[in-house]
Amino acid sequence: MDKLVIQGGNRLNGTVKASGSKNSALPLMAAALLCDTGEITLERIPDLKDIRTFRKLLDYLGVETSYHENTLRISSSDLRCVKAPYELVKQMRASIYVLGPLLARFGQASVSLPGGCAFGPRPIDFHLMAMEKLGASISIEKGFIEAKIKGSRLKGTTIDFPTTTVGATGNTLMAAVLAEGTTLIKNAAMEPEIVTLCCFLEAMGARIDGTGTTTLEIQGVESLDAKDFTNIFDRIETATLLTAGAITGGSITVSDIDPGHLAAVLEKFEESGCSIITDSGSITLEGTDAIARTDVITNPFPLFPTDMQAQWIALMTQAQGTSHVIDRVYHERFNHIPELNRLGARIEIRNNEATVHGPTRLTGTTVMSTDLRASASLVVAGLVAEGVTEVLRIYHLDRGYEQIEKKLNSLGASITRESYQEFG
Ligand code: EPU
Repeated sequence: MDKLVIQGGNRLNGTVKASGSKNSALPLMAAALLCDTGEITLERIPDLKDIRTFRKLLDYLGVETSYHENTLRISSSDLRCVKAPYELVKQMRASIYVLGPLLARFGQASVSLPGGCAFGPRPIDFHLMAMEKLGASISIEKGFIEAKIKGSRLKGTTIDFPTTTVGATGNTLMAAVLAEGTTLIKNAAMEPEIVTLCCFLEAMGARIDGTGTTTLEIQGVESLDAKDFTNIFDRIETATLLTAGAITGGSITVSDIDPGHLAAVLEKFEESGCSIITDSGSITLEGTDAIARTDVITNPFPLFPTDMQAQWIALMTQAQGTSHVIDRVYHERFNHIPELNRLGARIEIRNNEATVHGPTRLTGTTVMSTDLRASASLVVAGLVAEGVTEVLRIYHLDRGYEQIEKKLNSLGASITRESYQEFG
């Protein structure tokens, strides 16, 4: 296994480029299953473990893929298999994204249930409810979702999600574009990743109204054409890099981005005393030596993202005073807290609220990654901890951050990747 060894105390300065978005690339790859002819080229696909896992799933289904320097080519014309196996789905919950496209194209799908999640319950009931409303019959057999259409096509309907859901909105969109008639998705997610999926589907010939709003109206079409498409930047990677700049009191610029995707986070950085300068393609953060305590509450887009909660808590360990961080999306996503406390932080958890007492002197020790964003928060904390912080089980980080230590080192951090063996 690999670990990151971080020598804390360096101020970060300089410019880095944002990578392509993981959470947008995955549904784009799934949407490619909807095309039964031609080849699709997707640009700006990050080189990440989750992307490799999804590619393995596509390969398993009989899709031809090739990947070179962030360009992914996909040809689904020979796709025949409609089964997503447990071995792949358990590695990545986003595998559920193949359900909608497979049902829409073949009238059936068999997708393993994803199993447990590192940060509390992550049900898939909204995905199943939507597929049923579109006319599929669903049963759970031997740990698999068995979905089948009665007629030859799914049937347009109205789906009103009880909570905003990125994944189920994406899955429903991909099913509805080939359904017969009109589908209305109410309380749809407005995340940039969903907007990007709509744009890609529209480029392929889908008819969608309301992109970027909470109501999407989809007129089903009979088929889609293969089209090339460029993925958006990763807003969570960008915000994580900015947090690394902020916690070290440095000045960093992240380029190749759209600041509009991060408005809520940038507002919080300003509230914490950092100065933010944006132009159409970059964000510059100038840190402060007196970070102000800043409360955040996570919520669906356009509000503060849950995927930045852990990194924000790391930043608040260095703030003047006590801050409160509430996660309204995942109430149990706090595995990073005991590890941050092992570095010397003083954080308490009550229900879905973390109370962070700052500023605290962090001192390097060995800590363990438990999930993707928890790992990112430990790396951010390690940048200001005195001495050496070792972050174990870095495979979680590798799921979602492309060359993170290389990027941070280019800004002045001192991080090495080493392999190690776990006892027991
Ligand atoms: N939910 C249900 N039932 C469902 C689906 C969702 O109750 O069928 C609940 C969830 O438990 C959660 C809320 O609805 O409380 C929102 O979940 P959502 O469906 O939006 O999450 P997701 O699509 O499974 C994506 C990202 C996550 C990110 C969330 C929230 C991908 C591949 N994953 O997950 O990203 O945290 O949206 O923004 O896009 C990450 O990148 O670290 C990550 C976990």
